Amino acid sequence: MKEKISKAFEKRFGSHGIQYASPGRINLIGEHTDYNGGFVFPGAIDKCIIAEINPNGLAATGGKEKVRAYSLDITEENPYSEFGLEEEDMPAEHWARYIFGVCREVIKRGGKIKGFDTVLSGNIPLGAGLSSSAALESTYAFALNDIFGLNIDKFELAKIGQATEHNYCGVNCGIMDQFASVFGRKGSLMRLDCRSMEYEYFPFDPKGYRLVLLDTVVKHELASSAYNKRRKSCENVVAAVKANGHPDVEFLRDVDMEMLNAVKDRISSEDHMRAEYVIEEIQRVLDVCKALEKGDYETVGQKMYETHHGMSKLYEVSCEELDFLNDLAGEYDVTGSRVMGGGFGGCTINLVKSELYDAFISGAKRKFEEKFGHEPKIYDVIISDGARKL
Ligand code: GLA
Repeated sequence: MKEKISKAFEKRFGSHGIQYASPGRINLIGEHTDYNGGFVFPGAIDKCIIAEINPNGLAATGGKEKVRAYSLDITEENPYSEFGLEEEDMPAEHWARYIFGVCREVIKRGGKIKGFDTVLSGNIPLGAGLSSSAALESTYAFALNDIFGLNIDKFELAKIGQATEHNYCGVNCGIMDQFASVFGRKGSLMRLDCRSMEYEYFPFDPKGYRLVLLDTVVKHELASSAYNKRRKSCENVVAAVKANGHPDVEFLRDVDMEMLNAVKDRISSEDHMRAEYVIEEIQRVLDVCKALEKGDYETVGQKMYETHHGMSKLYEVSCEELDFLNDLAGEYDVTGSRVMGGGFGGCTINLVKSELYDAFISGAKRKFEEKFGHEPKIYDVIISDGARKL
């Protein structure tokens, strides 16, 4: 991939730049907890976005500061995009808005950047819930910080990516994906407390088990508006609890079941279900960390199934294909399985005993194809490093 990008860069711009990479992520447990001030437990993976970047000095020749970007992976839209760095310069190409958004968020924080040429490519499957967009944002946030010597700390780089989603891409996401992409470390998962932003690395090497993702290859329409709606439900519940004698409550993290049930009549039954899931899920992350410290993978796996159930029945972000894969995992005695990421399509993450792996994968492929007409895609996971210069 590095070679391919370098050649394309030379062909298009007649020069060379510096290459940077940022990975996608998995999340062992802790879904939809980040924007509720709870815990998440992600790790970066060995699939990434790579970008080559070179300041182009166009302004020096009488023009204005401009980014000229070329993506090697885009087929449905124009793969070339050219845009300025002012707010009104938003590019028409959807994929380029991630780069534009990062530039804008850097500038809003006082970062002095100039126009640049860039070519990018990646091997993170799109729409699979592996955070290809966070990887894209982290690549450019990390690169601009390095190239223009901005001295922005790593948390702020992650927040630049998150703000890009909020302000330029229409998704009110939490911090997990960008955090994982920037802070990832080979062989370790990270437990992040999304209220205090304290984090801890947990070496993850489950001997005798494998982590594998099964991608349904479906991505449901309106996933981002459904995501934003879930977030709104959580905010509604926080507001109701606050008004019910708990003025200090800031997130669902601060709410327990008793406090939730005390506002039952003031919130919709839908919002109640959403909050119930989140409160339980925050606790599950802590339970999983404890179980991992004891090497108790059975408990880890059981919690993963509980998460799936909650995401499917209470948070309602699963879909037929994901539920089918989760049921299949149960049939094949897979230790843990659940929908991963925001939901509405994408992957299940599975913790499976090595000796059961082959039977599970071939059985899942066959049965899924019989039902849905295509096989799921299989990704073995290697926990890898975060954003870096190559
Ligand atoms: C998406 C968001 C994250 C997080 C997950 C669900 O990946 O970008 O911030 O909320 O969904 O856990």
